[in-house]
Amino acid sequence: MNVGIVGAGLVGGAAGYAMVLRGSCTDLVLVDLDAERAHAEAADISHAAPVSHPVRVRSGGCDYAALAGSAVVVVTAGANQKPGEDRLELVERNAEIFRQIIPQIASAAPEAVLLVASNPVDIMTALSAKLAPHSRALGSGTVLDSARFRSLLSGHVGVSPQNVHAHVLGEHGDSEVLAWSSVSVGGVPLAEVLEVTPALRGEVEQGTRQAAAQIIAGKGATNYGVGAALALITEAILKDRRAVLTVSGPSPYGPFLSLPRIVGAGGVLSTLTPDLSPAEEEALRQSAQTLAQVASALPE
Ligand code: 2OP
Repeated sequence: MNVGIVGAGLVGGAAGYAMVLRGSCTDLVLVDLDAERAHAEAADISHAAPVSHPVRVRSGGCDYAALAGSAVVVVTAGANQKPGEDRLELVERNAEIFRQIIPQIASAAPEAVLLVASNPVDIMTALSAKLAPHSRALGSGTVLDSARFRSLLSGHVGVSPQNVHAHVLGEHGDSEVLAWSSVSVGGVPLAEVLEVTPALRGEVEQGTRQAAAQIIAGKGATNYGVGAALALITEAILKDRRAVLTVSGPSPYGPFLSLPRIVGAGGVLSTLTPDLSPAEEEALRQSAQTLAQVASALPE
């Protein structure tokens, strides 16, 4: 149950910390271009182990060889959004970085499942799958957006977010689709437990879609939510949980995007076909089109 994290910045650090607090793995190694950063982050995270779960945490410095034996490698390397920037604007910078690092990761850890978190995550996951065809790459996708959606709904319904089942589909970005038609609370359709007025719907839509921008405006980055999501996905793979998670992968719509998928040993085991309203189906097609346009502008 070895995990590697490439990129020991705010997101990589939060993911590692969440993995130790949850006991997601037995061994964790952090690699970063900045070896000092990897050493410091690994040391800091390791001090959480004695008071949570006995995960062995170490730094691999800037050496990809340290990833050998990893069952999952989480990739968080690359530029992050600045206030006012959207995820798709990062595409060229991060594609350049991925072209350099993904082949090195794949050769150091050829058996590993690659879990991509760098933005724009759908495009970066597709690029990883292309650069390392055997890596069974999947992206964190809209797992975080689904958590934001569930969390906001939970406040309105007054039920634990764990019992609110709701999915955000499509791009992890501005064109994402909140699948209202399939929301359930403990198995009961949302409309039977809550009056979904247009105002409430607008508020939840905006709160979910704008969450990252608002957090970035306030603190410069998002890291805890995505860190917890990465720990959850990693655990689903390592422990063969067969959890339904909206991770990013190849889709019948063309580009890589998020759909509810069963995640277990080896990564994505299958994709579920959500029952969508015609408007949601159309919005998902539009989201796919947005991603396809950005992907097609990337140089080969
Ligand atoms: C997030 O949604 C910025 O993609 C990151 O928090």
